[in-house]
Amino acid sequence: MPAKVDMDKIVSLCKRRGFIFPSSEIYGGLASCWDYGPMGVELKRNVKDAWWKAVVHERDDVVGLDTSIMMHPGVWAASGHIDNFTDPLVECKSCHLRWRADAIEGKRCPQCSGELTEPRMFNLMFKTFMGPVEEKASIVYLRPETAQGIFVNFENVVTTSRKKLPLGIAQIGKSFRNEITPGNFIFRTREFEHMELEYFVKPGTDEKWLDYWVKESFDWYVKLGIKKENLRLRQHGKDELAHYARDCYDIEYLFPMGWSELEGIANRGDFDLTQHAKCSGKELSYRDAEAGEKYVPYVIEPSAGVDRSVLAFLVDAYEEEEVEGEKRTVLHLHHSLAPIKVAVLPLSRNEKLTPLAKEVFKRLCPRFVTDYDDSQSIGRRYRRQDEIGTPFCVTIDFESLEDKQVTIRERDSLAQIRVPVEGLEKVIEAKLRGEAFDASTLWATRQK
Ligand code: GAP
Repeated sequence: MPAKVDMDKIVSLCKRRGFIFPSSEIYGGLASCWDYGPMGVELKRNVKDAWWKAVVHERDDVVGLDTSIMMHPGVWAASGHIDNFTDPLVECKSCHLRWRADAIEGKRCPQCSGELTEPRMFNLMFKTFMGPVEEKASIVYLRPETAQGIFVNFENVVTTSRKKLPLGIAQIGKSFRNEITPGNFIFRTREFEHMELEYFVKPGTDEKWLDYWVKESFDWYVKLGIKKENLRLRQHGKDELAHYARDCYDIEYLFPMGWSELEGIANRGDFDLTQHAKCSGKELSYRDAEAGEKYVPYVIEPSAGVDRSVLAFLVDAYEEEEVEGEKRTVLHLHHSLAPIKVAVLPLSRNEKLTPLAKEVFKRLCPRFVTDYDDSQSIGRRYRRQDEIGTPFCVTIDFESLEDKQVTIRERDSLAQIRVPVEGLEKVIEAKLRGEAFDASTLWATRQK
């Protein structure tokens, strides 16, 4: 079943409206690298904030961390990434394109039908050198996951947070993978952001916690507006489990190219802590003083991609519809994710309207991300706000000068209500929280 929108339309809207641009575009771009524009940076930040709020701030059993991208090379030997973080690569002997051997059918090049080389294992970690000397001893890797920064700090966090198990440590940050076949816009790139939680539990309770985090993770997307019918769960077969995983579920989303992984939730058992204890010589176990027990915790890991989530939220929110004989493109983004919450739009750039419009902007911008736009026709400005998903537009017209009232237009229903400028911010606040958009509740709210 194909998704309702082509990727081309999403890419084009992202470029047109300042969400996402090709990286280094004036030099012809750099394969699979993308830059977030003024709208994209807000959307991406909102996605990360929503995740951090749900996973860290609204719980008392999870704390945050922000570790460095470059780590001691011993970390990657211990974690198994040097030996196992590989994909089988084949190269076309004619056009020299490289392919993931497990992602192509048959023995010929999908591009030119040329003969392919035998597969060889290709490590996906980016290598660089630390310091001025380019020699083997100074090789460092850009992290391919943020998780290892959490494992090597387990002892530090347990000691300083004085929390008991089960305890989660969350991190959001950049990861790098030298993917053989990146593509599908921001779906698979070589530089991306991870949102990862390592949830440390007592062995024996791990299966229960895996079920718990699969449900929590799935529900997070639904609460933020993703349609349930566009999400599904898939358990990994034994042959596809990562080298560290005992069990794993993917949350898949119906992207334009079909069902694909959005997030993975793995049971990593005690693999990482045991490996780091062995390779560093430091004991990494947990002492439960009350129960008089000591053990190496098991880890449940929900691991999501920020960029892939951004793509899913954009695809799910995208709609083209006909309004009064004209095509309207709208992003029905959840209010908390919308880059701009409210746009202030004077009917025209008229010197009589500007002072009141500016007053309204000043009233709103300390509380909400607010846009002020007085260029072009009001119709074109509404279209722009619809395409970037702004939930509310406030219009100032000549009547506003007399009655000190403005019109609020709601993005999804296109309903309009007229409200006094005085107290406007409280009305917008209530609407952003989800209060119904109709005049009777509006006045009930205002009289409180
Ligand atoms: N620490 C576990 C881990 O990294 P993963 O399944 O390799 O697991 C987790 O990655 C999530 O990170 C994926 O579900 C996806 O959302 C995102 N991700 C992984 N590789 C990516 C890439 N090359 N580009 C964009 N996002 C990626």
